[in-house]
Amino acid sequence: MRKADVFVFAGPPGSGKGTQAKLLAPKLKVPHISLGDLLREAVRNRSKVGEIAKSYLDAGKLVPDKVAIDVAEEAVSKKECRNGFVIDGFPRTLEQAVLFDGLLNKLGFNLRKVLYIDIPLEEILKRLTGRRSCRKCGAVYHLTFNPPKKDGICDACGGELYQRRDDTDEVIKVRYEVYRDQTSPLIDHYKKTGKLVYINGVRDVSEVFKEVSKAVGS
Ligand code: AP5
Repeated sequence: MRKADVFVFAGPPGSGKGTQAKLLAPKLKVPHISLGDLLREAVRNRSKVGEIAKSYLDAGKLVPDKVAIDVAEEAVSKKECRNGFVIDGFPRTLEQAVLFDGLLNKLGFNLRKVLYIDIPLEEILKRLTGRRSCRKCGAVYHLTFNPPKKDGICDACGGELYQRRDDTDEVIKVRYEVYRDQTSPLIDHYKKTGKLVYINGVRDVSEVFKEVSKAVGS
């Protein structure tokens, strides 16, 4: 039997991983998993994972690998994922990548492509300081590039829009350094597998999505 396909979105903070994953998942009719969203939800719910994760998220640092791996394993083991899934924000360290490879094997998935979206730091700062997210449905906007019709209100569900606590200049710079030091080595890891697709993220959302769709063959 053919294994179900998995697509990973990688790239620096604010490169558009979440935006593109949210477009791709419905097109492929599979769930979208965002490790950042799951960790923020755990913080909101004050769960045990949330208690551990909070200070890391606020500081822009990575939560310990064990925590990230456990959260990812729980999410991808759900039956909704049995036909495959799209994941963003995981893996983020070499250790996570090696364990993820093993997990996918164990669960019978095929890692099809790693879509690596790249943008420079100046663009990251513009994108993240202008990002607003909906408290209710999680829709993501940008004050300049994708503004809501009504200030502070979600077009999709009428929920309140808020700015993420880690989207300040100071924390964004930490997140970028963490990405450069701990996550960018993954690019070479996935290059060696022949599954890495480089995507220039400094274009309109729709232009980037055209390339993403081409890369996944849909
Ligand atoms: P996470 O939530 O994953 O943050 P991130 O990687 O920094 O990525 P972002 O969500 O900020 O950006 P994105 O690339 O999804 O961009 P988006 O599409 O929103 O992780 C947060 C924290 O959780 C981490 O710091 C860490 O503490 C922890 N964590 C998560 N995963 C972990 C792991 N595996 N291990 C350990 N810790 C982990 O777009 C950004 C903005 O730009 C939006 O406003 C959007 O509208 C706009 N935009 C998007 N595309 C375009 C475009 N093409 N043109 C113009 N604007 C655009």
